[in-house]
Amino acid sequence: MPLSWDDSNVQIDDGAHVARSAIFEPVDLTGSAQPIVIGRGCRIAPGAVLYGGVVLGEGVVVEDHSVVGKPEFGYAMGHHYDGHAGTCTVGAGSIIRAGAHVYSNVVLGEQVHIGHHTLVRSAVRLGAGTQLAHFVSVERGSQFGGNVRSSPHTHITGGTVVEDRVFFGAGVKTINDKSMVWRAGTPVVLEAPYFAEGAAIGSGSTIAAGVHVGRWALVGSQSLVLRDVPEGVIVVGVPARERGPRPHPDGD
Ligand SMILES: CC(C)(COP(=O)(O)OP(=O)(O)OC[C@H]1O[C@@H](n2cnc3c(N)ncnc32)[C@H](O)[C@@H]1OP(=O)(O)O)[C@@H](O)C(=O)NCCC(=O)NCCS
Repeated sequence: MPLSWDDSNVQIDDGAHVARSAIFEPVDLTGSAQPIVIGRGCRIAPGAVLYGGVVLGEGVVVEDHSVVGKPEFGYAMGHHYDGHAGTCTVGAGSIIRAGAHVYSNVVLGEQVHIGHHTLVRSAVRLGAGTQLAHFVSVERGSQFGGNVRSSPHTHITGGTVVEDRVFFGAGVKTINDKSMVWRAGTPVVLEAPYFAEGAAIGSGSTIAAGVHVGRWALVGSQSLVLRDVPEGVIVVGVPARERGPRPHPDGD
């Protein structure tokens, strides 16, 4: 049902279905307005909220009560965000499940799945085919390659780099702040972990600040990783220790 929308800031392409109770908010907290673009064949469910700067590719599904393009506002880690909206681009075929929050200045590639109640903060990039399950949090500025998978309840700290085909089990915790000094005016040194291509992180593991997990390495469940993990090995335990090679999943 193409809806005729009388707001000139909202462009709804042919074949899009927009629920009557979907909410469009083109004007950000600084007072500037940006267009909202709903591509062909998109489906916007009841109660979904779309902010100015959102551009949805063809066939994107935004489920009930999810929020897309939300501008950052308030103080966090040495920055004050004034509520200005950038663009939030969602690639064709992506699905944003009910209750998810995707902030402004985000780029989602094609066929990205954002699970129920998952949080994607500003300046995050998720490559094509990436799938995040429910209750995952991806903090500001994290950069994901394509076909990354995350099971529920995993926390990706701000500024984390995740290359293609990385797998996170459930409840993985990542850390970028070793000293935990949180006083106004104190410079905070943040150092996020890095996950190279194909790395697999077992459920319940914690990856410390600045750790580099090598290509196709595997971290066993419930491990505490304090040191860099070389390419192609398995580490387990608290603290994690190497216990042998990991056969390459592609048989290479
Ligand atoms: C690390 C892992 C790959 C090892 O599997 P495996 O090669 O079949 O190993 P085994 O079960 O035969 O155990 C071998 C040894 O490692 C130990 N071990 C296995 N997993 C371990 C872990 N996570 N932490 C500590 N020790 C572990 C075993 O106790 C055993 O020790 P032993 O030789 O002294 O008896 C696997 O146990 C694991 O943790 N996989 C991650 C699964 C996961 O989290 N999936 C997410 C899905 S959402």
